[in-house]
Amino acid sequence: MIKPEIIERVRQETDIVALIGSYVPLKKAGRYYRGLCPFHSERSPSFYVSPERQAYHCFGCGAGGTAITFVMRYEKLEFPEAVRLLAKRLGIRVEEETGSSKYQPLYETCERVARFYEQMLVKSEPARNYLQRRGLSANTIKRFRLGFAPGGNYLRGHAAKLGLNEELLIQSGLLLVRDEGRIDYFRERIIFPVFSLSGKIIGFGGRVLDDSEPKYLNSPDTPIFHKGENLYGLYQARAYIRDNVPVLVEGNFDLLSLVEQGINNCLASLGTALTAEQALLIRRFNQQIILCYDGDEAGRKACRRSIETLLRAGLDPQIVNLPAGEDPDSFVRKYGRENFENILSRCVDFVGFIVAGRELSSVAEQRAVLRELAGLVALIPDPVTGELYRNRIARNFNIDPRQLLTAGPENSKGNDSCSPDAWHRRAEKLLAAAVKSQRLAQVASEFLLSELVEDEILSSIARTLEVHCGDEAYSPQRLMELVGDDTARDKIARWLFSEEKCPDEDDFRRWLCDFRGRWLQREIERAHDAGDQEREEKLIREKNLLKSRCLKKK
Ligand code: UTP
Ligand code: MN
Repeated sequence: MIKPEIIERVRQETDIVALIGSYVPLKKAGRYYRGLCPFHSERSPSFYVSPERQAYHCFGCGAGGTAITFVMRYEKLEFPEAVRLLAKRLGIRVEEETGSSKYQPLYETCERVARFYEQMLVKSEPARNYLQRRGLSANTIKRFRLGFAPGGNYLRGHAAKLGLNEELLIQSGLLLVRDEGRIDYFRERIIFPVFSLSGKIIGFGGRVLDDSEPKYLNSPDTPIFHKGENLYGLYQARAYIRDNVPVLVEGNFDLLSLVEQGINNCLASLGTALTAEQALLIRRFNQQIILCYDGDEAGRKACRRSIETLLRAGLDPQIVNLPAGEDPDSFVRKYGRENFENILSRCVDFVGFIVAGRELSSVAEQRAVLRELAGLVALIPDPVTGELYRNRIARNFNIDPRQLLTAGPENSKGNDSCSPDAWHRRAEKLLAAAVKSQRLAQVASEFLLSELVEDEILSSIARTLEVHCGDEAYSPQRLMELVGDDTARDKIARWLFSEEKCPDEDDFRRWLCDFRGRWLQREIERAHDAGDQEREEKLIREKNLLKSRCLKKK
C-alpha cells in the first residue's frame, strides 16, 4: 500500500493540463483546454480539460475523470500503479506502508494455511491422482495453488506447530466451533484458494474426491472474504481480459480445464448467482462478457438471471450454447481447444438467446417474446447501446422501434412520474447535486439515496458517496478515484462539466424527502403484495417519521 500522504502529494502536484497535454495536444479555449479525444476517434475536438475542476470530460464519447484516472485509463493501469507512474514523473519517492491493514493477520493466516494445504497435496496420493484424472498439470496446480485438506481435524492438530492462532483460524472460517470442540471446516477436500485482485489469498473452495455431498464447500464470508464480490480466477486472468473478452463459467474445474488448454481469459462465479458487484468488477476490465454455462435447463436459467444483472451493470453479454449434458470442462476435454473456440465464436447476444428455441409462428408468442426483450432493453443504462438494440429487435420483428418503448412489461400501469425513465432522471439529478457538494452529499446519505436509485452505475456512485461523504478530504475528484469503474467516473465528470446550479440545502432536503416518500410508498405496496408483513410494517413506520426528518435542519 502506498502511503496516503504520498497519494495526496501526487494529487496536488500533478498539473492536469500538462499531464494530459503530454498525451494529447491541447489548446486553450476560454477556461478550458481542448483537444482530440484519445478514447474515441474524432476529427473535431470535443475533449476538454478543466484546471479549475481538476477534471477532464469528452463531450463526444463521455469519457471523463481526474489526472490519476486518466493515466489509469490511458495506460491501462490499476490505481496504485498509476500513482506510482505520476510520482515518478514528479520525482516523488514512493514509500510503501507495510502491514498497515487491520486485516493483515487474516491475510497471513490464509496464506499460511494455503501453503499447508499445498504441502498436504504433495503428500496425498489419492488427491494427486484425482487432479491428474481431471487433467490438470503440475503447472496449473501450482499457478492456482491447489491444495488438499486432510480428514479429521488435521489443521487444528497442526495449528500450533505451524504458528497458527486458533482464534484467527476461526475468524478465517477455517475452524468451526462446535459443542464437542473446534473442528476443521474443510476435510478430505481438494482446496481451491480464492485470490483478491492484488493476489492475496482471502478464502477457499473445497471439493470432495468422491461423490459425497455437499460436492463443493466455500469459506463462509469473513472480514476479508465476500463471495458475492469476488470471482474465482480473476487474479490469474486479469492480464488477459482487457484485450480478450472474458469467458464466464460456473465451475472451478470448468475454469481450470480451460486454462489447462491455454484459454486464459476465464472467470468463474463463486458457486452463487452472479451479483451486481461481480458484474461491476468485470466491467473494470471489459464491457463485454461471454457466458458459458452448463448445457442444461439449470444452466439456461442461470444464464437468464445473469443477463439481467449484466445488462443493468452496463455490460453487453454474449451467450454460448453448449451441447446438452456438457459443461465447459467436459466439452473442452472431449473436443479440444479449437472446437471450444469455434463454439465461442458462435455465441449470440441476449436477443438471440431469448429468441432461440421459441416458436414464433403465433402472434401471441411473438408478443410475449417482444415483451420480454423490451423489459431487458430497458435495463441498459447507456442510451446509445439501448437504441442500437431497440433498432435490432424492431428489425427482427418488423415493427417500428418506437413501439418497443411501450412494449415492456410494466408500462401498462403506472403514471409518468413513476415510470422507470422519470425515476432514473430524478435519481440522477439528486445524485449529481450531492456529488458536487459535500454538505448535500451528507444530506443524501442521511436519506439513504443509494437505496432509491435502481441503476447499478448510479447506485455504485451513491454507495461510494455514502461511505466517503464524511471524509475530511472529500471532493468529487476523490470520488471519481474511489468509484473503481470507468462509466461511473464518466458520469461524475459529466456532472462536473455541466452548468446546472446546485440547489440550496432546504430545497435539496425537500426533493429527497419527496423521492424517499414515493419510494417508501412503492416498497410498501411491494412488501404487501409479497406478503412480507414485517417489512411492510417497518416501511410504514419509516414513512410516518419521514415528515419530521424532512424539516430537520443540520
Ligand atoms: P456443478 O454442480 O455444476 O459442478 O457446480 P461442476 O463444476 O461440474 O463440478 P465437477 O466438474 O463435478 O467438479 C458448479 C459450481 O458451483 C459451485 C462450485 O463452485 C462448482 O464448481 N458449487 C456446486 C457449490 O458451491 N456448492 C455445491 O454443492 C455445488
Ligand atoms: Mn463439471
